[in-house]
Amino acid sequence: MSSAAETSSATRINPVVELRRDGEIAVLAVNSPPVNALSAQVREGIVEGIRQAGTDASVKAVVLHCDGRTFFAGADISEFGKPPKQPMLPEVVDFIEASSKPVVAALHGTALGGGLETALACHYRVAVPSAKCGFPEVKLGLLPGAGGTQRLPRLVGPERALEMITSGSPISAKAAKEMGIVDEIVDEGNLLASAIAFARKVVAENRPLKKVRDLDDKIAAARGKPEIFQEFRKANARKFRGFQAPEYNIRCIEAAVNQPFDEGIKLERKLFQELVSGEQSAAQRHVFFAERQVWKIPDISDDTPTLPVKKVGVIGAGTMGGGISMNFANAGLPVTIVEAKPEALERGLGVIRRNYESTAKKGRMSMEDVERRMGLLTGSLNMEDLADCDLIIEAVFENMAIKKEIFSKLDAIAKPGAILASNTSYLNVNEIAAMTKRPEHVLGMHFFSPANVMRLLEVVRGEKTDKRVIATAMQLGRQIGKIAVLVGVCHGFVGNRMLEPRQREANRLILEGAMPWDVDRVLYEFGFPMGPFAMADLAGLDIGWSRETSKGETVREILCEQDRRGQKTGAGFYDYDESRNAKPSKLVEQIILDLSAKKGIARRTISDQEILERCVYTMINEGAKILEEGIAIRSSDIDIVWINGYGWPIYRGGPMFYGEQVGLGKVLDRLRVYEAKLGPEFKPSALLERLVAEGKGFRDL
Ligand code: 3HC
Repeated sequence: MSSAAETSSATRINPVVELRRDGEIAVLAVNSPPVNALSAQVREGIVEGIRQAGTDASVKAVVLHCDGRTFFAGADISEFGKPPKQPMLPEVVDFIEASSKPVVAALHGTALGGGLETALACHYRVAVPSAKCGFPEVKLGLLPGAGGTQRLPRLVGPERALEMITSGSPISAKAAKEMGIVDEIVDEGNLLASAIAFARKVVAENRPLKKVRDLDDKIAAARGKPEIFQEFRKANARKFRGFQAPEYNIRCIEAAVNQPFDEGIKLERKLFQELVSGEQSAAQRHVFFAERQVWKIPDISDDTPTLPVKKVGVIGAGTMGGGISMNFANAGLPVTIVEAKPEALERGLGVIRRNYESTAKKGRMSMEDVERRMGLLTGSLNMEDLADCDLIIEAVFENMAIKKEIFSKLDAIAKPGAILASNTSYLNVNEIAAMTKRPEHVLGMHFFSPANVMRLLEVVRGEKTDKRVIATAMQLGRQIGKIAVLVGVCHGFVGNRMLEPRQREANRLILEGAMPWDVDRVLYEFGFPMGPFAMADLAGLDIGWSRETSKGETVREILCEQDRRGQKTGAGFYDYDESRNAKPSKLVEQIILDLSAKKGIARRTISDQEILERCVYTMINEGAKILEEGIAIRSSDIDIVWINGYGWPIYRGGPMFYGEQVGLGKVLDRLRVYEAKLGPEFKPSALLERLVAEGKGFRDL
């Protein structure tokens, strides 16, 4: 660090904080890798540094600067939920703001959360152009708890503060400058020297100690106007549904506008404490760490060499094949898409173009980008054209015989070293791999529909898959913006295997006494975007159904026979109006009552609790079996699958986390009750029994 070398003296305050000197400017330098999170040691060091600079008469101003890749990326998330360590961040920021000498924050990297709050307590802020600022707390089920909800509105006004704080999305240094968060943008490679020069200017010009807490001009106009906040709540109701934190953030910003600073701070502190000790934030923090764990594979080290992938082949231009191809084109990789029939190929490419064009129409992509991406896609009717691809993904109909045939052909066509992947959602990848002479180069890459949108990618490890091939698939997943989860071979892998018991119970429940809308309501209120029956209507009830083979034994079969095939036919489990609003159906109710009677099932009143337990606890039990069999590496990987592939509410942390939050003992007890009453489908897994007996959780494995 060039300027550090120029400083004339340095005092080490503690292992992570140093007070350096550059003439009359003190540089409070923090070095706490990887992201300079504001741990107790960092906080202590800052307070001590400011104190020392304050008492040293030769110091005229202080620059607060972080070494390494970023300014403080926030509070240390790993400290939450543990006994608090002094000094707490709110006191630290107050101490900085109260400094009798100007403090200048030098921002680079990501000044996030508590990091930005620290910067806002400084009297001035400079930033390099690549720096980003933001308040991501809401994504952790929190609110900025060190004055952020009170200072930001005073700087930028309530509207922008609402947007920034409740979205959690960072903004660029340029935007921060325009809003007044940053006072000056400085040269990219010269942050520290520029910040020191800025501090000298502040001293030379005898500029005041600018305290954000004293500002009023940006909030005055909104005072006594609750409608600003009501409208914001209304406009975002769907997005915020189920989450506690957005509302708490809004209340704090409203207080910033209407109440004196210290009152606002009191409310902020109270609500922060409530959130940080609550279940939602615990769940969201779990997800934060789980998303980072998922990439770590115990027997495949980070330095495992990956195979170069410069060109991709996709077999099948249907919904899945098209979506998969878009992912790679978006990442700048050329893709050859092979289809059997010219019409299907043309249709597939047409759908991709329309998808891109609709994104462009919404202003999220330029027309040049559309053409650039389409230019990366080459259609072909000949599998031989895949000979130069480094990775080939098969995305055809879910049928083992067809897949086997394709892989045996592919083996003869693909160049040596090419990776052959199947997008199968259920089938045995080992059997598919056995059709080739290169099973070590075969694996599953299971995308979720729509594949260009959904974040989840299950990477399926076959028994012979080479470690380099797995490392390559994981890295490619990251490159195309997915969250890749490594899973083992079994029917349905992690996600679809756990979906099965939920579907089974949903279908049993409606024959025993509930109605589809009861089951859907319970799961919707739990936090899923929709329940299983609404979902089935959306997907189409006739997937995998045919009139010839239909036996009329399930509600779904009967509905299909009556041409109630879901939303597309205007009726399914529900009746739909022209705007596709769902309404419970009297006819369906009768179909269900008749079928119950035909099967000799005495219907009874079923409580919401029973619906939830039977749909969700059976999933947790299946997850435990998955862990027991080593299909998933860790329980948090299962959580990631369900959050990113199936709409499990983030604020409930994923099924395995939820199971622990409810208490594995309780889950086990309820499974035993249902087993005795309803049958062996509820038999608890041996792992669950063992963990409860040992007083342990999934995370102890
Ligand atoms: N606390 C503790 N650990 C953190 C952390 C934090 N705030 N931010 C990142 N880390 C850890 C990660 O867990 C990871 O650890 P690992 O290597 O052991 O897996 C390591 O730092 C590197 O993180 P990433 O892999 O995420 O690195 P990237 O370069 O991809 O991203 C980042 C960097 C943008 C800073 C990203 O880590 C991030 O978004 N961090 C969280 C920021 C955040 O949420 N801040 C607000 C915290 S809450 C708060 O401040 C409350 C306050 O208002 C009182």
